[in-house]
Parts: sequence; structure tokens; C-alpha cells
Amino acid sequence: MSLINWIDLPNRGDERGCLVAIESGKNLPFEIERVYYIHGTQDGVSRGFHAHKKLQQVAVCVAGSCEMRLDDGTEKASFQLDDPAKAIAINPMVWHEMHHFSSDCVLVVFADAAYDESDYIRDYDSFQEAVTR
Ligand code: TYD
Repeated sequence: MSLINWIDLPNRGDERGCLVAIESGKNLPFEIERVYYIHGTQDGVSRGFHAHKKLQQVAVCVAGSCEMRLDDGTEKASFQLDDPAKAIAINPMVWHEMHHFSSDCVLVVFADAAYDESDYIRDYDSFQEAVTR
């Protein structure tokens, strides 16, 4: 599976403005079990720094921007999330970090399972060991 998997979300906007819809099975490759969002991120703060063993996620900046860095242990990628109609899939066993949040950034994340701390790998060396095994 490739590291970067963009998902183009349909913009149903009209002269009044924009409307972007997200539906399980249509734009998302899984049933949504959980939605969370990161906002009000303080200046200079970076977040993430973990991988998930099984969790599938899709992230989209619905306002503002941030830099997303992905790393599957072989390949690394870094790009801006700044389009409410362009989401990025974060697959299992992909180390991810978010940097350079704009002060107005609202990063919405859709996930296929409930929060489970035991699904996290928060140590980079352990992550590398797991993906090269
Ligand atoms: P964490 O996943 O560490 O955030 P990040 O990796 O973006 O820095 O989560 C921060 C805190 O929020 C941590 O105490 C776990 C809690 N949390 C939940 O309770 N539910 C959730 O869905 C998420 C993602 C985090």
C-alpha cells in the first residue's frame, strides 16, 4: 500500500458557499466509529508522534492548515493539509506527526474504532522494530 493516499471529498458548494459531505463506504474506506478534532493548538506545538497497530484514520483540515509527516518505516512524506475537500488516509503502522499548526487550524479525524491506548506505538524505535520485523 502506498504511503500517501489522498481522498478527494465532493464539494457540494454553490453561490452561498461550500458544503463538503463525508460518508462511510462512499468517501471513507471504513465505517466511522469515532470522530475527533484538534483545534486551538498553541504556537510551536507539534502533535502525533505515534503509529497505530490496527486503527484506520482519515484526516482533513476543515479550517487553517498544518504539516503532516508520514513514515511507514521505508518511506517518508511531508505535505500541507490545507484544503477542506482533500483528506489524507493514515493507515495502520504509519508513524505520523503534525507540525506548524496555523492558529485557526481545525483538524478533523475519522477513525474506524474507539479510542484504545493499547493500539498506540508511541516509541519510534519500537515502531521501526515492528515494521522491519
Ligand atoms: P493523543 O492521541 O496523545 O494526541 P496526539 O497524538 O494528537 O498528540 O491524545 C491526547 C489525549 O487525548 C490522550 O490523553 C488520549 C486522549 N484521547 C481520547 O480520549 N480519545 C481520543 O479519541 C483521542 C484521539 C485521544
